[in-house]
Amino acid sequence: MLIAGNWKMFKGPAEARTFFDGFEAPADVDVVFCPPYVSLGSAVETGQTIYAQNVHWEPTGPYTGEISPQMLVELGVQGALVGHSERRQLFGETDEMVARRARAALEAGLGVIACVGETLEQRESGDTELVLKIQVEAISFAAGAHERLVIAYEPVWAIGTGKTATPEMAEEAHAFIKGLLDRPVLYGGSVKPENAAELMSQTSVDGALVGGASLDPDSFAAICWAASTS
Ligand code: 13P
Repeated sequence: MLIAGNWKMFKGPAEARTFFDGFEAPADVDVVFCPPYVSLGSAVETGQTIYAQNVHWEPTGPYTGEISPQMLVELGVQGALVGHSERRQLFGETDEMVARRARAALEAGLGVIACVGETLEQRESGDTELVLKIQVEAISFAAGAHERLVIAYEPVWAIGTGKTATPEMAEEAHAFIKGLLDRPVLYGGSVKPENAAELMSQTSVDGALVGGASLDPDSFAAICWAASTS
């Protein structure tokens, strides 16, 4: 099981350090943290596995506000999220950009958690599988079933809303994604200590990508324990 905490735009370096002082996870669960860029350095110093929240595809260049895979490697960061729905919806990221980011990060030796998921409007109009197919195939075309690539299924309507996909809905989407690309699939969208065990018990759910509930050491640890077999 892999449990990743996406801190989004929360926790500067000092707050990040305080979090890690109070956090302990079970040994049989792989735990990844995705702090904001400015907190990556202090997070790496804790010895935890640290991913960035995004990464550019070029090693250097005139790309104001972007960070390259090589810069993350130099810092001791082990991977990056790509294609989070907030990047897609609020910052105009396309499937092509997501695919290029994923490929470059993998080529530089980083791990990648590539996020996909449908909006409420797309689900209600019966287009969930169409949307997932387009998003996953772009990543698959660029990166293949790379051993350091993980997919995160995050239905946009479940992010930060308290509305979780039912375990059956998650299972159905995950199985569909695995049929397109044979890699582990994490579930994301309002994962909490209370619903984590049931979601994680689904056959095709290989872990979780947690937003809000990853900000508190106790609630994030509780989710990690829910994913533990020990
Ligand atoms: P929440 O867990 O806050 O719904 O966020 C999910 C998410 O976007 C993780 O990347």
